[in-house]
Amino acid sequence: MTRTVYVNGTYLPETEATISIFDRGFLMADAVYEVTSVLDGKLIDFDGHAMRLKRSLDALDMAEPCSTKELLDICRKLVELNGIDEGLIYLQVTRGSDGDRDFVFPAEGTPPGIVLFTQNKPGLADSPAAQKGARIISIDDIRWGRRDIKTVQLLYPSMGKMMAKKAGCDDAWMVEDGYVTEGTSNNAYFVKGNTIVTRPLSSDILHGITRKAVLRMAQEAQLKVEERLFTIQEAQAADEAFTTSASAFVMPVVEIDGVRLGDGTPGPIARRLREIYLEESRKAAI
Ligand code: PDD
Repeated sequence: MTRTVYVNGTYLPETEATISIFDRGFLMADAVYEVTSVLDGKLIDFDGHAMRLKRSLDALDMAEPCSTKELLDICRKLVELNGIDEGLIYLQVTRGSDGDRDFVFPAEGTPPGIVLFTQNKPGLADSPAAQKGARIISIDDIRWGRRDIKTVQLLYPSMGKMMAKKAGCDDAWMVEDGYVTEGTSNNAYFVKGNTIVTRPLSSDILHGITRKAVLRMAQEAQLKVEERLFTIQEAQAADEAFTTSASAFVMPVVEIDGVRLGDGTPGPIARRLREIYLEESRKAAI
């Protein structure tokens, strides 16, 4: 099926959508993005994603392409035009182009570029992968120092995912100076007893929108949350582990670098948090 996508103010078939070869998103990865999930045809945590988009744009001195209200209207229209019940919306804002390649930013007033498209993913909430749990390898984190800005510089995370696949696993957790930063496209956690441990927010990791919601729900469910640095060895010795992201919600982790966690199946706390997250998010979806 040909999707309808949104490019710089126009809805059009994906086959007719074009971007300049001089666009800085293309030439310099000078662009930021957001991925928002859709359940029951509604957007999950739209406000959180819109706020983080603004933060990323501000951090890079990039202009906002439209208001949050307009963004919401565009997302809703794409969901409707493409008949999305469960899936994702990808949004990218680039610094645009003034028609040539230059390390210097284009002149002030150069309009930013904006692209949105949907990804239809029936069964996203009821995913077989979440029932099985993910097997993880660890890799060095060699990304740049502003991982809190959601830029499209995704080559290394993409290579990390491929290293995991090559090792017969599902994903990779990145490690810097001996401590886990995050997963290739998710935040990382382990559970010991009644306590959830995850790295504190800083420029070392992306400030996950799902992370924020899940930590709040965990506290409401009387679980203890410890935001601190942790090692792969600690996570391997844990009762359970999991990751969070807008595209996979709460994903149980069952193995880290060949070490099975618990009985090698998704742990009760990760499963419960996934249920709570899905239930609460569906209720609050817009
Ligand atoms: N990735 N850390 C990284 C490096 C990520 O790329 C993501 C999200 C997260 C989780 O953030 P959130 O809960 O806001 O989705 C953490 C998206 C899903 C992606 O690139 O497809």
